[in-house]
Amino acid sequence: MKVRIAPSILSADFGRLAEEIHMCEEGGADVIHLDVMDGRFVPNITFGEKVIASARKATKLPLDVHMMVLEPESYFESFAAAGATGMTIHVEAAPHLQRQLARIRELGCLAGAAVNPGTPLGGIREVAADLDLLLVMTVNPGFGGQEFIPASVAKVARARHILDETRSRAALEVDGGIARDTIEKVWRAGADTFVAGNAVFSARDPKAEIETLRRICLETV
Ligand code: DX5
Ligand code: ZN
Repeated sequence: MKVRIAPSILSADFGRLAEEIHMCEEGGADVIHLDVMDGRFVPNITFGEKVIASARKATKLPLDVHMMVLEPESYFESFAAAGATGMTIHVEAAPHLQRQLARIRELGCLAGAAVNPGTPLGGIREVAADLDLLLVMTVNPGFGGQEFIPASVAKVARARHILDETRSRAALEVDGGIARDTIEKVWRAGADTFVAGNAVFSARDPKAEIETLRRICLETV
């Protein structure tokens, strides 16, 4: 299985956003993760389409937009136009999940569903065919630099099982507290896409850290 490292620009210096993104690219990042927060679904506000468009100008890498917002459908058109490669919506904010995922695909983007730590995986089986990515949150969303929740490891294994059973080819992403000491456990449990904010941007050598995280996985087969 391929390891995909997705640095989250939430921990980047926004005054030097393009340079920070170039740095990730040079470090071998597979994806750039963009955390959109509306101050309603989560108790924090970040950014919207303008920053997505700036990131799009800075790199050709896929832009994975993680939408921690209520009524995500009101942003689908503008985020797709701004250059999002994929949009991931929270099941807790998506009462019509299947329709919303289908709409993201209609706009030419990859469709992702995210589940908070307290949310069961149950409904995911029902939409497996409509998913390009399943995001299992390993912290409660809202802030970078939080501690990884250990119970997430077993949940990632259950998510892997559901994707395999439904023959889904969706990526299995983890987000929150992913660092040298946690990545191996979630990789073994079946995750293949690893969001890392703090671990990358507060490392002494952020570029090298991307490779270190990848190597930890690849050396654990
Ligand atoms: C948290 C965001 C994450 C965040 C992860 O709500 O969804 O993407 O940037 O940050 P770290 O890796 O620092 O936990
Ligand atoms: Zn995120």
